[in-house]
Amino acid sequence: MKIISIVGARPNFIKIAPVHKAFGKYNDIVAHKICHTGQHFDEKMSKVFFDELEMPKPDFYLGVGSGSHALQTARIMMTFEKVAESEKPDLIIVPGDVNSTMACSIVASKMGIKIAHVEAGLRSYDREMPEEINRVLTDLLSDYLFVTERGAIDNLSREGIDSRKVFFTGNVMIDSLVYYLPKIDSSGVLGDLDLTAGDFVLVTFHRPSNVDNTGSLRALFEFLERISREKRVVFPVHPRTKARIKSFGLEGLIPDNILMTGPIGYIDFLALVKNSALVVTDSGGIQEETTFLSVPCITVRNNTERPVTVEIGTNFLAGTNLESVGVLALDILSGNIKKGTVPELWDGKAAQRIVDVLVTTHKRINK
Ligand code: UD1
Ligand code: UDP
Repeated sequence: MKIISIVGARPNFIKIAPVHKAFGKYNDIVAHKICHTGQHFDEKMSKVFFDELEMPKPDFYLGVGSGSHALQTARIMMTFEKVAESEKPDLIIVPGDVNSTMACSIVASKMGIKIAHVEAGLRSYDREMPEEINRVLTDLLSDYLFVTERGAIDNLSREGIDSRKVFFTGNVMIDSLVYYLPKIDSSGVLGDLDLTAGDFVLVTFHRPSNVDNTGSLRALFEFLERISREKRVVFPVHPRTKARIKSFGLEGLIPDNILMTGPIGYIDFLALVKNSALVVTDSGGIQEETTFLSVPCITVRNNTERPVTVEIGTNFLAGTNLESVGVLALDILSGNIKKGTVPELWDGKAAQRIVDVLVTTHKRINK
């Protein structure tokens, strides 16, 4: 059985690493290869994850880089089609909701190659998010839909997806977290950045709706300045956000007393998450990691495709008005936190369940 996993952007590497490890059990019958589209390419957005998550060098590197949605998607489709033609995989695995996920799914579906979507069925019901379009299309084309939370099963059922294709297997992003917790616990990042555990706020922002306009970025800096009067603020900046701050000429508004860094490697970043008093973010994956680690999280968005993190986890969905986010943040920092629980099957074994489903189904069909 020949399988190619597609990775392109930072969160994809974290999701595919445990899947690759789990295929080890079947290496007599499965050839698992990795195709990196090159959607993310900076060392700190790509190579550092391969190194830290002990992934082999990708078998295929498409080198597509950045561009408009159409350009990037088209480049991925054109280059991946050649790989699919020469390799003729039985199946591709596509994680998450980025352009690489959708582009390779379209190519595979038209070539009769089976598709397994890892993290299927999540919905924000907000079509202004490019990721929502990627999620809906990928699910529509997939043959195996592996879901992380029960609500996703209902979402897929409402869209008429055959329930026999849907498997509740858990959360591969949490698999990586569980596996690397000992390393995360021995990270020296707090000392390196002169931080005290439980005494700082960690902030990440990269959604186009939050960073692609000057008004939101100005409000973000005001918010950070206000929070930094109470606690140290650490802000590892995503390349999109960095590019926008520069192109809008807003460097002069960056508060002096916040610790602004570039993207941080996986182990050190998770050590910061685990030891922070509060995380303020618009990330998808970080909502899940904070829930698993019981760290208070404020999600600065109007909706979330990961509702379980709000319903039973430590996540607060706060909208995008940074003045009210500031009030909520100060309230949480004063001790008004909610106690969360860890969602079902977020136990470090999701990837093993996924590869077991794929291998046993393949064996049954080819008997
Ligand atoms: C992408 C995903 C988003 C995901 C995020 C994870 C899509 C539509 N978006 O958003 O869902 O949450 O990755 O981080 O697929 N850039 C660099 N170096 C890099 C990568 C990007 O400088 O290694 C800069 C470029 O200026 C580029 C911009 O970041 O134009 C955006 O990159 P892109 O991959 O298009 O989208 P992200 O915002 O990273
Ligand atoms: N992450 C990281 N370093 C950083 C910021 C994030 O290692 O500086 C990790 C984070 O812990 C999570 C993943 O990257 O595992 C999430 O990526 P991102 O927020 O870029 O994407 P999203 O999940 O929103 O698609």
